[in-house]
Amino acid sequence: MSESANRAGVQSQTSATLVARLQRRRGDYGFDAPAVPVSFIVVGVALLVLAALFSWWIALPGVVFLLCAASYLYTTRAGKFYVWARLLARLGLRGDEHVLDLGCGRGAVLLMAARLLPEGKAVGVDLWQTRDQSGNALAATQRNAEREGVAGRVELFTADLRTLPFADASFDVVLSSLAIHNIHGPGEREKAIDEAMRVLKPGGRLLIADINATGAYAERLRQRGMSDIQRRGLGWRFWYGGPWVAAVALSARKPV
Ligand SMILES: C[S@@+](CC[C@H](N)C(=O)[O-])C[C@H]1O[C@@H](n2cnc3c(N)ncnc32)[C@H](O)[C@@H]1O
Repeated sequence: MSESANRAGVQSQTSATLVARLQRRRGDYGFDAPAVPVSFIVVGVALLVLAALFSWWIALPGVVFLLCAASYLYTTRAGKFYVWARLLARLGLRGDEHVLDLGCGRGAVLLMAARLLPEGKAVGVDLWQTRDQSGNALAATQRNAEREGVAGRVELFTADLRTLPFADASFDVVLSSLAIHNIHGPGEREKAIDEAMRVLKPGGRLLIADINATGAYAERLRQRGMSDIQRRGLGWRFWYGGPWVAAVALSARKPV
């Protein structure tokens, strides 16, 4: 299919068709923070064993830990893809934008975005930390890009989110999924937010899904003059173990 026909195809698809298409994937995207579900399972099973040996009521917290593990595993393997497919479809991309994914990992969001960009570019930046995602490596993301058939429009960079290797106003859209909360230290996440704003073009859009600190990110965006700032919960499909670790979407626009 020619590039222009492909682009027209992307534009004409109904949202439901597009979402279903985006969720079909051929890559292997690993597990987010793999030590977390493993620890839920270990504690849950240990409590069930203790319950069998001593008293039935010890089984109750054991079952809760195993339910947390089930929620976590669902989110990392399926739920986040479901939610991001909808978020990306709603962006209404033309198909020729330059999109940056901050902390792209093995490409769960980056490569879905790339499928919407037949004439654009999807750029991923990461430090490839395996504690944050199993099998995390630039080569793994590159392999996934090839499997998804989008390698020609994907570029990967090794860099810290606090010091992005891009010129000011380089991107139409900046995305980030579950990455910025991994940065620690007073004022450090704000540096990543500032960098995201710096590399956005005037009028460009920012869309972050993260746990824990989206309120603080929103405050920073407000202080720095971003417009259309909105926060909303993403539902049970994006819970990392339960409603107490729920992802929230934060969107904003850089003033023209
Ligand atoms: C939980 S993974 C999420 C990956 C991907 N966005 C996804 O949703 O599948 C978090 C990612 O953030 C990356 N990361 C954490 N801190 C970072 C930093 N300071 N600079 C760049 N990448 C970072 C990790 O290496 C990891 O790939």
